[in-house]
Amino acid sequence: MSVQSRPIEPSPTAGRHADFAARLKSWQARIERELAARLPSVDAPPSRLHEAIRYSVLGGGKRVRPALVYATGAALGIDESKLDGAACAIELIHAYSLVHDDLPAMDNDDLRRGRPTCHKAFDEATAILVGDSLQVLAFEILANDPKLPKDANVRLELVRLLAVASGTSGMAGGQALDLAAIGRKLSLAEVEEMHGRKTGALIHACVAMAAACAPQLSETARRGLDEYARAIGLAFQIQDDLLDVEGDVAVIGKATGADRALDKPTYPSVTGIEASRKLMHDLHARALAALDHPELDAEPLAAMSDWLVLRKY
Ligand code: IPE
Ligand code: IPE
Ligand code: MG
Ligand code: MG
Ligand code: MG
Repeated sequence: MSVQSRPIEPSPTAGRHADFAARLKSWQARIERELAARLPSVDAPPSRLHEAIRYSVLGGGKRVRPALVYATGAALGIDESKLDGAACAIELIHAYSLVHDDLPAMDNDDLRRGRPTCHKAFDEATAILVGDSLQVLAFEILANDPKLPKDANVRLELVRLLAVASGTSGMAGGQALDLAAIGRKLSLAEVEEMHGRKTGALIHACVAMAAACAPQLSETARRGLDEYARAIGLAFQIQDDLLDVEGDVAVIGKATGADRALDKPTYPSVTGIEASRKLMHDLHARALAALDHPELDAEPLAAMSDWLVLRKY
């Protein structure tokens, strides 16, 4: 079964979140539709680049980040249609980061989302241009999307949040730390810093950008959401590292053992599998505790956090 058509696994806490699997499925279908409508057509030139863009973005991936945008919206009572632009923009930055992450100059991977990586299906120059194009399309959407809040200050804040999460203090900086760490021994604090940037920053942006669309939110509620997002962002990359060790290629749709083959410091390599799993569950508990605030409906975000630590792919 392909990565994209696999049903969402029922979680051990399914009773607690009876309708979450259905909700997640509907968010995944929604983002697929919204992304498809915003990507350039293969009928327009340069059609090969446009084909590679659609290949890299559509028809795969868990859509964790858009789901997190919509789940935060659900926690705050914001209509999904008001968040489509932000959800698309973040997923485009994520898709670009994967295309570049897989390049020979970085992780040199051949398999992504159960299919050949972009540079394998097309070529390296095209993969670089796919990344370039997706990155700017993300910001074009934040500038132009008619359903995002009209208030220019809110739009500017959305641009700022996504730019900071993508740049050297976020994803790109984290990727630089990741590459510089090859073959070196890092402390746990250094791995945390690397993961917080390369993965945590964009996960945090999902929550922060949805919250930015609710300007009336109190500072204390915003702080709770911040803490939740930082905790799940780190937990998410710990699970990614664990799946690289223990996952099944046919299920995760990408190579396993890749971190070890490249001699990358990861949570399991620095502190061991059991300690990593414990830390991930501690972060999960911290995330849930941070949601205890009268302005938040904790349920959708608690269900997201459950899914992220229990996922098998
Ligand atoms: C993989 O992200 C790379 C990381 C930042 C850990 P995902 O696990 O969200 O990948 P897709 O989008 O589902 O393919
Ligand atoms: C990727 O981390 C993080 C980003 C793409 C920013 P990994 O290199 O561990 O992701 P996978 O395992 O290839 O998906
Ligand atoms: Mg990498
Ligand atoms: Mg990689
Ligand atoms: Mg990985």
